Amino acid sequence: MAAEEEQFDVVFIGAGPGGYTGAIKAAQLGLKTALIEKRKTLGGTCLNVGCIPSKAMLQSSEHYSQAQHELKDHGVELGSVKLNLKTMMSRKSKVVDELTKGVEFLMNKNKITVFFGEGKFKSDDELEVKLNDGGKTKTIKAKSYVITTGSAPNILNFDIDEKTIVTSTGALELEKVPKKLIVIGGGVIGLELGSVWARLGAEVKVVEYLDNIAATCDKAIIKAFEKSLTKQGLTFLKGHKVNKADKAKNGGLTVEIENVKSGEIVSEDCDVLLVSAGRVPFTASLGLENTSVKMNDRGFIKVDAGFKTDAANIYALGDVIPGPMLAHKAEEEGVCLAEILSGHKNARVNYKTVPWVIYTWPEVAWVGLTEEEAKKEFGKVKVGKFPFSANGRAKANGFTEGMVKIIAHAETDELLGAHIIGPNASDLLSEATITMEFGGSAEDLARSFHAHPTLTEAVREAALDVDKNARQM
Ligand code: NAI
Repeated sequence: MAAEEEQFDVVFIGAGPGGYTGAIKAAQLGLKTALIEKRKTLGGTCLNVGCIPSKAMLQSSEHYSQAQHELKDHGVELGSVKLNLKTMMSRKSKVVDELTKGVEFLMNKNKITVFFGEGKFKSDDELEVKLNDGGKTKTIKAKSYVITTGSAPNILNFDIDEKTIVTSTGALELEKVPKKLIVIGGGVIGLELGSVWARLGAEVKVVEYLDNIAATCDKAIIKAFEKSLTKQGLTFLKGHKVNKADKAKNGGLTVEIENVKSGEIVSEDCDVLLVSAGRVPFTASLGLENTSVKMNDRGFIKVDAGFKTDAANIYALGDVIPGPMLAHKAEEEGVCLAEILSGHKNARVNYKTVPWVIYTWPEVAWVGLTEEEAKKEFGKVKVGKFPFSANGRAKANGFTEGMVKIIAHAETDELLGAHIIGPNASDLLSEATITMEFGGSAEDLARSFHAHPTLTEAVREAALDVDKNARQM
């Protein structure tokens, strides 16, 4: 049967944050836009099995933990606190469901044509979509194609069943709280999902290859972070890796763990093993072998500064190209590319101000350079710090753990980086991100009004401390 054909200005392949945000911007700028998605719902990994469901579980498990350990200090006595995991999971699914439907609504509102099916390039100029519904094939012609297919977990050599040996996807769907969870990788996913299950009652051990968990953070923050997570009951085996996991007859696992330096091997039993050792770009089944698109040696699609691949009319952005694998990075790139395709000359993404967040409790958030990186680049730098224990609002709220650390240029006072561990760090970080976007200084941040009493005052005090002018201590 001959394939049906349809013509667009731009087609995004993959409906994650890069694809759907880029599509909305392209449509708003007047381009005839289509979006192709092989899942049944829009929103990609982020909305369906990543950022959003994990945040729902983090919030719910945090409530559970507070009800057990903290509310009594506020004079709220609950008697015995019971976990209803089924309700927690269905609340999470409802959140996901509403948000994915929200993205569909936005597609309709912006007159974007959505094809639910799998896209495959036949050549640089021709894309075929095998539609989910009925299996019919459609040829989609476009002036520009954009690959926004995201990433998949790096499963190392493990046989993932998403029940006992799981990636983040399975770790968000466990039917009961594991007695013992071993986590491979002390990065963002391992620490967030490890926290969820530890709060819900699991014994959690994190096996990290490097000498530090959250190794890309500022060193002072890592120290405070590990201390805090250890206090919450997580244990860490740093400088170790997991070689294999054997399924035992009782349904559990025996895991072989190796000391990276000494080669010493130990065995440990657990019910669930979470493999969270990074993610890899997802480009399988796209038919890139039929195009001029080229990859680097790590499997990321090569692009120029304007997201153009080696094929003249194929672009790529988000997790499939080099750079941080973050939803908001993909979103900014999607918007930027839509502007480029619409003829904007100065569209660009400022990669110096990409915010990073680990949504544990306390949260860890940072932007810009760490103290170590700043010293390497500029020699001397100024550093200001302020603890939440000296902030009135944090004290009133009862969450006083953590601090804000601000790094500024020694001569110009330009804000070079901000690192926060503490309550609502993800939201507080925006102050520094915006200041940096405007090329502002620590003094700009310190002289701006901050409502009293708020946690934001801790950010201001850290900025004041850059020149040793903090007042609230
Ligand atoms: P990650 O890169 O954050 O951490 C992986 C960790 O695993 C690293 O510390 C690495 O040293 C360690 N590792 C690698 N191989 C190992 C091995 N064989 N044995 C022991 N440790 C090993 O990757 P993660 O946590 O899997 O997350 C993947 C991506 O998803 C990240 O790039 C992150 O940006 C993104 N993400 C972001 C979130 C956020 O912004 N809050 C939430 C979840 C994911």
